[in-house]
Amino acid sequence: MRILSGIQPSGSMHIGNYVGAVRQWVAAQNVDAFYCIVDLHALTLQIEPARLRQQTLDYLATLVAAGLDPDVCTVFVQSQVPYHAQMNWLLECVASYGELSRMTQFKEKASRQEGYRVSLLTYPVLMAGDILLYSATEVPVGDDQRQHLELTREIAERFNNRYGEVFTVPVGVQPTASARVMDLQEPTRKMSKSLASPLGLIYVHDEPRDIERKVMRAVTDTDNEVRWDEEKKPGLSNLLELYASFSAETPDAVASRYDRYGDLKKDLAELVISSMEPIQRRYREIRPDEGALRVLAARGAEKAAAVAGPLYRRAAEAMGL
Ligand code: TYM
Repeated sequence: MRILSGIQPSGSMHIGNYVGAVRQWVAAQNVDAFYCIVDLHALTLQIEPARLRQQTLDYLATLVAAGLDPDVCTVFVQSQVPYHAQMNWLLECVASYGELSRMTQFKEKASRQEGYRVSLLTYPVLMAGDILLYSATEVPVGDDQRQHLELTREIAERFNNRYGEVFTVPVGVQPTASARVMDLQEPTRKMSKSLASPLGLIYVHDEPRDIERKVMRAVTDTDNEVRWDEEKKPGLSNLLELYASFSAETPDAVASRYDRYGDLKKDLAELVISSMEPIQRRYREIRPDEGALRVLAARGAEKAAAVAGPLYRRAAEAMGL
């Protein structure tokens, strides 16, 4: 089994990223796992260069603080392994404009801005390359990446049919609870860095009092019956899911212990605070040493390139380059 997954160093990491993806990464890490901070992807939207550079280090430190061990798995920065950008081109010559323009995320993001970048359209191709360069069999992601994964599978199969068997066709793996954490203020919309309402997102690095405030003010309904019902009670169900994902229970089991929303919220806030606390503590220890973080990234990039290089060359050769 070979694992690859990635995260954009845009904004600050939120608990949707954590429970939807990063926590799975930590649990599944082994010598055959590759985790990548996708700084090239972050360029698809406006971002200050100095900020991108800092946030890349923030994410690296956060991933290590969350439990990724660079001596066990490979943690690297996408732009430091040039094969990702190169593979992107090869795969742009396999993917079609039609299938890319049908991607939900593209349509959403493009509808919110004028003059969006071409890379916003081609972004899933870069992502497909990330995965295929490592012959990944499993890709742990949140629910919002499912469509991109499906496209990756199609691109891989099309390439293999056209040019011979080069790529492994991967499958996506979602967590059992909280594969889609919703915005706390607008619980019918996913928690997202690019559409943040001020109280809607909990960040991994939020202060305990902010976590508490956000959970206590989370939008729920008014019928005061604690039960999991995603359609009729999206806000409450989101809180139950989140709770369940931290306590390793089912949302129904959590619901059965509570009569009042306030009690559930109070306990959930405590649970999130105590789960983030060790990550925040480790982060404060390792983040200041940027030299050490850069060494770590360089080591990761070297290990990643040793796998991605040969695969890139096989793909390029198969296409006639
Ligand atoms: P990104 O940076 O938006 O998110 C990183 C991971 O967090 C998950 N996630 C969520 N899970 C649950 N609830 C949410 N509200 C939520 N928001 C985000 C995402 O599903 C993702 O797993 N295109 C990817 C990054 C990427 C990638 C890859 C992933 C680039 N190359 C190759 C896997 C394999 C992205 O923008 O994720």
